[in-house]
Amino acid sequence: MEQYVIKGGNPLYGEVEISGAKNAALAILAAAIMTDETVTIENLPNVRDINVLLRTIEEIGARVERVNAHKVRVNGSFIQNVSVDNEFIRKIRASYYLLGALLGKYKRAEVALPGGCDIGSRPIDLHIKGFRAMGAQVDIAHGLVIARAQHLAGTHIYLDKSSVGATINIMMAAAMADGKTVIENAAKEPHVVDVANFLNSMGANIRGAGTDVIRIVGVERLHKTEYSVIPDQIEAGSFMFAVGAAGGDVLLKNVIPKHLEATTAKLLEVGCMVDEFDDAVRVHSGGSLHHTQVTTLPYPGFPTDMQPQMAVLLGIADGTSTVTESIFENRFRYVDELTRMGADIKVESNIAIIRGVEKYTGARVSAPDLRAGAALVIAGLVAEGITIVDDIYYIERGYEDFDKKLRGIGGQIEKISDDKDLQKFILKVS
Ligand code: EPZ
Repeated sequence: MEQYVIKGGNPLYGEVEISGAKNAALAILAAAIMTDETVTIENLPNVRDINVLLRTIEEIGARVERVNAHKVRVNGSFIQNVSVDNEFIRKIRASYYLLGALLGKYKRAEVALPGGCDIGSRPIDLHIKGFRAMGAQVDIAHGLVIARAQHLAGTHIYLDKSSVGATINIMMAAAMADGKTVIENAAKEPHVVDVANFLNSMGANIRGAGTDVIRIVGVERLHKTEYSVIPDQIEAGSFMFAVGAAGGDVLLKNVIPKHLEATTAKLLEVGCMVDEFDDAVRVHSGGSLHHTQVTTLPYPGFPTDMQPQMAVLLGIADGTSTVTESIFENRFRYVDELTRMGADIKVESNIAIIRGVEKYTGARVSAPDLRAGAALVIAGLVAEGITIVDDIYYIERGYEDFDKKLRGIGGQIEKISDDKDLQKFILKVS
């Protein structure tokens, strides 16, 4: 099993290029099969979850031409099969987007119940409620969600909770339904807007994405398009926090600074400096870090996907900080691992109380999920001595070349597969 090995203590300097947004790209790839014409998608991140979804749409008959690592052409006209199930798709959350896409286009879909990172109970009741409101019959049997409709009719849907997945899924199905659908209390995340823009570029009629109310007038068919995915705000935020924690001065290229506002605000609060440019941000840090409070909230609030990285930063800040997780109930599974590196964190219900320590010390830790894994890598970059991170499979689901990009800005990190590699790394850094 591959691992990351990290020698901490180096500040980070230089430039790093941020990849396309994984969570936008997953939904866009699913939506790409809704037309029978060829769709070209650029700025795709080359990460495991994307590759699983590409393989899956190929398995149901779509033609997928990988032009290069970041560009793909998809043609959905050859799809024979609306039943999606394989051992890989069961592990990714975004499989649910194939429900909305297939139901919208073929009025029938059978998709394995989604898996994904173990960050708490992850129901899909709101997705199902939306499909049913449009007239679909939805059942769960043999591990599959089975949805079918004679025809889908536009309707009014109020989401009890702001859900990214449900908003996008309902938007996809409604794009090819009869008449007008209104989604109230819709999620406003940048990837919701990106998927709406993508669908509109295929001829859909979606207005209001990025606000609480999205209005969709269904169209009979969608057509070809060429589209570039937005930059990944969470990958960018993770690098920003890495610089905040390790110190240094790094320019992040290919970002949309507006999408990073909550992350930037917290970095400024703890004493780092952030300069914004048109499509880049520069983070510099070096002095001591101050304690603060943070609560995760739907966009434009502080993202739950940045919560573990924030906690790592606060773990070495002066004084006592609190981190409140309000989106997922089980997103503190990294705390025990970070404690092994010397952190002083107590979790009470959905609040982590963090007493800043002077330093982390290297240890062997294991990534409990994607973002927590990235956070442990950041802790390793700051820690005294050597850190080994196991289960990097999770990190590779969503970060493209994380180790390589960190090395590019001076991080001492390698991907290793055995003890020989570890000894080589230790020799190199000592
Ligand atoms: C998306 O998950 C992302 N995943 C997550 O990213 C991200 O953490 C999350 O949005 C919040 O931003 C993908 O895009 C593939 P939600 P999703 O529906 O769609 C509740 C990462 O690390 N809810 O916005 O599953 C739910 O339990 C991953 O990249 C219902 O109750 O999140 C949660 O409390 C992890 N019923 C809240 O809504 C439903 O039917 C928000 O979840 C759906 C959701």
